[in-house]
Amino acid sequence: MTLTRKTLLSATIAAAALCAAPLSHGQAQGKLKVGLMLPYTGTYASLGNAIENGFRLYIGEQGGKLAGREIEFFKVDDESDPSKATDNVNKLIKRDGVDVIVGTVHSGVAMAMARAAKESGTLLIVPNAGADAVTGAMCSPNIFRSSFSNWQSAYAAGDVVAKQGKKKAITITWKYAAGDEMASAFKEGFEKSGGQVVKQLNLPFPGVEFQALLTDIAAQKPDAVFAFFAGGGAVKFVKDYAAAGLNKNISLYGPGFLTDGTLEAQGDAAQGIFTTLHYADSLNTPRDNAFRLAYAKTYKQQPDVYAVQGYDAGQILSVGLNAVKGDVGKKAEFAAAVEKATIDSPRGAFTLSKAHNPVQNIYLRKVDGKENKVVGVAAKALADPARGCRS
Ligand code: BEZ
Repeated sequence: MTLTRKTLLSATIAAAALCAAPLSHGQAQGKLKVGLMLPYTGTYASLGNAIENGFRLYIGEQGGKLAGREIEFFKVDDESDPSKATDNVNKLIKRDGVDVIVGTVHSGVAMAMARAAKESGTLLIVPNAGADAVTGAMCSPNIFRSSFSNWQSAYAAGDVVAKQGKKKAITITWKYAAGDEMASAFKEGFEKSGGQVVKQLNLPFPGVEFQALLTDIAAQKPDAVFAFFAGGGAVKFVKDYAAAGLNKNISLYGPGFLTDGTLEAQGDAAQGIFTTLHYADSLNTPRDNAFRLAYAKTYKQQPDVYAVQGYDAGQILSVGLNAVKGDVGKKAEFAAAVEKATIDSPRGAFTLSKAHNPVQNIYLRKVDGKENKVVGVAAKALADPARGCRS
């Protein structure tokens, strides 16, 4: 072999070896493609924006990279419309080829997303939607939730309302998975503690024609009303409830979505309402104070529960990605790391259950001015029962 041929050969071998060598941390893996599927229009638009803000705040605090990889965002407005959900999620999975999806708010949309994520193996982090099935019957090693289950957000309220001496309650919700599951979890908790749900009222999502239902409540004269609405719908419901004069005689309760991120618009109508949720405005811990300050500085507004859930979706993604050095293909290692982790959330540290839902404190809050002030812990380290999860 001549010298030139020999040199050429060793150069070729060296180049081949370089290609085969494992890439060091984040190197040449390219940008991490993150799909944000959230509502940016409609009654849940403010929730979607707060989630994105919280997620981006966390990424910003990491210097714009996770596990050494820069982030490229792909966004879809899901309009909180389950009928468009499969097409929308496939835009991210099939058209954009994202590595991970963060979404969404609406339980019906989230169930279609979970189905697509399960089938394709795409990583999914749910930053709000509480559909019980997502970490129940549809649970999967590649699906995680940074928020709550619908059961979790309402079960504790049942006990609280009964302990406040209320005997008969009416539930009122939008008619879809979130409303149905929260109403039934409230009933489970309330009746276990000696109360009785005498009527379950509902109206189609995202309707706000509450008058006939409020008239029915006035006629029934229960001791308490438990209501699930959120975003724009929650603003209208709380105002209509007060305008009808019901707040004077029939105590209004809800999962915290009824008054979170809405107090500016609800004003006097919301004062004194008790709710249960995994976050509150006055936790006053160093962790939450630092988060609130950073959020307020960045976005010139106060954070709410949705912002926290977006921020924690970033934290969950970061834990998993660091464990696999940015290689999202290593799904089992990613999941194992997240399952072992304690997430240092502004709401208080939490772990994820085997089904990948937060095990967390549910606070009792009372509206005071522009804040959902914490007045107690309704349930400590509450875990969703993960009914039907075989993972
Ligand atoms: C849901 O659809 O799961 C949901 C929407 C808004 C607030 C809470 C839950």
